[in-house]
Amino acid sequence: MENIFQPNAEFSKNAHIKSMDEYNALMKKADEDYEGFWKEYADEKIEWLASYDKVLDESDAPFYKWFTKGKLNVSNQCIDRHLAQKSNKVAILFEGDRGDIEKITYAELSKRVNKFANLLKNKFGVKKGDRVILYMPMIPEAAYAMLACARIGAIHSIVFGGFSAGALKDRIEDAKAKLVITADGAYRKGKPYLLKPVVDDALDKKIDCVEAVLVVKRNNEDIHWEEGRDHDYNALIGAESDECPFEPMDSEDPLFLLYTSGSTGKPKGVQHNTAGYILWAQMTMEWVFDVQGDDVYWCTADIGWITGHTYIVYGPLAAGTTTLMFEGVPTYPDAGRAWKMVQDHKITQFYTAPTAIRVLHKMGEDEPSKYDLSSLKVLGTVGEPIDPPAWKWYYEAVGGSQCAIVDTYWQTETGGHMISPLPGATPIKPACATYALPGIMAEVMDADGNAKELGETGLLCITKPWPSMIRNIWGDPERFKSAYFGDAKKDGKPVYFTGDGANVDKDGYITITGRMDDVINVSGHRMGSAEIEAVVTEDDYVAEVAVVGRHHDIKGESIFIYVVLKSEAEKDMKKHINDLLSSEIGNIAKADDIVVVPGLPKTRSGKIMRRILRSIAIGEAITQDTSTLEDPAVVGQIEKAVKEA
Ligand code: PRX
Repeated sequence: MENIFQPNAEFSKNAHIKSMDEYNALMKKADEDYEGFWKEYADEKIEWLASYDKVLDESDAPFYKWFTKGKLNVSNQCIDRHLAQKSNKVAILFEGDRGDIEKITYAELSKRVNKFANLLKNKFGVKKGDRVILYMPMIPEAAYAMLACARIGAIHSIVFGGFSAGALKDRIEDAKAKLVITADGAYRKGKPYLLKPVVDDALDKKIDCVEAVLVVKRNNEDIHWEEGRDHDYNALIGAESDECPFEPMDSEDPLFLLYTSGSTGKPKGVQHNTAGYILWAQMTMEWVFDVQGDDVYWCTADIGWITGHTYIVYGPLAAGTTTLMFEGVPTYPDAGRAWKMVQDHKITQFYTAPTAIRVLHKMGEDEPSKYDLSSLKVLGTVGEPIDPPAWKWYYEAVGGSQCAIVDTYWQTETGGHMISPLPGATPIKPACATYALPGIMAEVMDADGNAKELGETGLLCITKPWPSMIRNIWGDPERFKSAYFGDAKKDGKPVYFTGDGANVDKDGYITITGRMDDVINVSGHRMGSAEIEAVVTEDDYVAEVAVVGRHHDIKGESIFIYVVLKSEAEKDMKKHINDLLSSEIGNIAKADDIVVVPGLPKTRSGKIMRRILRSIAIGEAITQDTSTLEDPAVVGQIEKAVKEA
């Protein structure tokens, strides 16, 4: 008998969605009247400044448009409209690395965002449609900056603080940003670290578009100051008024860009637009995390990733809840930090990545029992498949076998959750994302769009557009079409390919099996093998390179690099290549394994057989036919090199 975990009956009584009957009824409604289904929520959840004329415009598929001609503003949706009822409620609860705490109410958030928006407009001339890069630590000013951009209609693009100057420069240039907002640095593991020098480095590489850099002083460390270009946020903000009317935005005006990895060397600027994104961010906060009343919700992601956008800032604030923002790491000063924070702040929903769960488990199996975690109602995971042992520990040791675990499957491109249990309704199978959310039409298909049999792994596709879907790749509509929409059609419309594999069991439960393309998932961070290869290929010593992912007990996957050298290198190639990756992309791109090999397994047409390389990396016997290789003997040589490495 399979283990099935029924929802907690007490919890279900008050949940937004209380039973599978309710779930099935919502699915049926969406199936019978798709636009009517979405219209109902758009009317209920969004404060429209002018009403929309059409729910869904499919005339230019796959460039779908939602709620056309409607007017709204996301910062109104997240702040102003709550003020009448919730001005004294804490909007952002900040805990610094060193334990410093700040509680920012909705009223205070309103003032700070308005001042920030005025500063952007008055001092830097930022206008609707301008792009602004944020290279920020996890401090409340990052959220103010996002909301201030949304307020005046500027498009923010956050670059994760772990990216290097090279990666930052590429993203600034692709977005053609006029302003960069950063901080001198912040604190991690009890020590100050710096961010501003990375911005200096990136801008040193001659970028014409950037006019100014706005610097928030967090740790007051000594930093280089470029007179005329750099501006001190803390010195300037006091003079700005705390009133700033919000710009009425069109439903389909861009809200933000977020760069992510794909199957080529160049990261993609995923574009999300206004109405559909904020609608689904709010709906999933309510359905999946079931936020209610005075809940205090904590997501441990970084705002540099989509999870931080949708589920630290936009979703929680649109839902009018209290969102905890944490500067530090959950394992510092010890393995009990996260659990102490849950206890101290009476956290009700806790959302993190399987890697973090595995680390916390390894560092302190019994650690959660030392704290009072009884406030917890819902536990969430995201970013990579969770393994059953990690799931079990999370459920039992952290949740006291009382909390639903929502294994939320989604992507940067989907804007919000796609497949996830509903905590008050779904009987949960461990380590399974369970069912598509109401309104989301997920199917497992082959490349031609034929449905796979039950139990068979295939491509996970979404067969109807949904409000928070990616609208475009910034500046590259052709790539948008080819990257996500193949030849497969359903009801004459192109279907969206997630790039993930999945299968469906006899009960209709969907299990995600992992990426089917060349994307590697390291600790829930998405890396393109082509992106890493593009950096390594540039090296003078390197003739050829191939990058694959390899199973890793803690990180989920780690990076494994095969290199063919031009000539015998004197250097320690592992250090040399990792230094290069660290400076061109960031520490997250460093490889665990770098093996020098005499050649790569290629077909006669020159295609690298990565499947063979993946098998060798994990020490698996080669079962693929190698007779079609240009040089079949190379396989044995690579195996030998890996064994000796
Ligand atoms: O492979 C899937 C994996 O993370 C990828 C998306 O990465 P990114 O765009 O960086 O967004 C991460 C946060 C949403 C997916 O294509 N993934 C995400 N959630 C899960 C998952 N794999 C398995 N189970 C999940 N719950």
